[in-house]
Amino acid sequence: MPVISLASVKGGVGKTSALLALASDLAVSGSNVVVLDADPNGHASRIGARMAKRLDGVAFAALGGITEANILASIKKARTEADYVLVDLPGVSSKLTLLGLARSDLVIVPVQASEMDIHDALQTVENVKQAGEAADKTIRACFLLSRWPITIESRAAKETRKRLQSKAPDVAVLNTPLMDRTAFKEMTFNGAPPRLVEPGGNAAANVEAIRREVLALLGVEVEDAA
Ligand SMILES: Nc1ncnc2c1ncn2[C@@H]1O[C@H](COP(=O)(O)OP(=O)(O)O)[C@@H](O)[C@H]1O
Ligand SMILES: [Mg+2]
Repeated sequence: MPVISLASVKGGVGKTSALLALASDLAVSGSNVVVLDADPNGHASRIGARMAKRLDGVAFAALGGITEANILASIKKARTEADYVLVDLPGVSSKLTLLGLARSDLVIVPVQASEMDIHDALQTVENVKQAGEAADKTIRACFLLSRWPITIESRAAKETRKRLQSKAPDVAVLNTPLMDRTAFKEMTFNGAPPRLVEPGGNAAANVEAIRREVLALLGVEVEDAA
């Protein structure tokens, strides 16, 4: 089943936060989800374990210890078991990252509103292309505007959208940004998906809109069990 990776050569852009928000929302919506944590800092698997406890009775698992040696086998196995496999890739270009990209059906590249983020996001897209060439297939990528201001869009935010579209016209920018919200920080402490904390709240609606866009890119028709 589809493999969705979160990737950026830049650290701190919100890969792990976006991954956990999306993964938990997919699980709460009735899909069987496996998170593979390929970042040696182990945040996705540590917080994912908390999330799994919160998601009692829901098919959600987060596995750590993904390395260069086992990433291909781990993705292969997870694909056979899960409806969606979400892979948290390290914030560097490495063999591990390249292997993870090569096995992805969609790569989500979070970008904050800054020139530095745009630069590194474009580099990440180049890495995705290279992985695609190595695997002899086209790997789809999209930008996710990340840690986005919830108030009116700043000049930097508008400029970021504009530059991404002009510099990488073939890579979609998701319409819905992942907003900068305390709910996404709280999720890291308690492992609670926003949709369980406040169903119908702003954070939950934000993640749901992103989930729908991501599934549309994968060509999946959205039918919620919830
Ligand atoms: N949407 C968001 N709203 C609020 N805080 C966020 C959001 N996304 C990320 N953060 C915070 O930004 C920091 C970096 O996020 P993280 O997900 O760890 O990025 P990465 O995995 O790319 O290194 C963390 O402190 C995290 O809590
Ligand atoms: Mg991370």
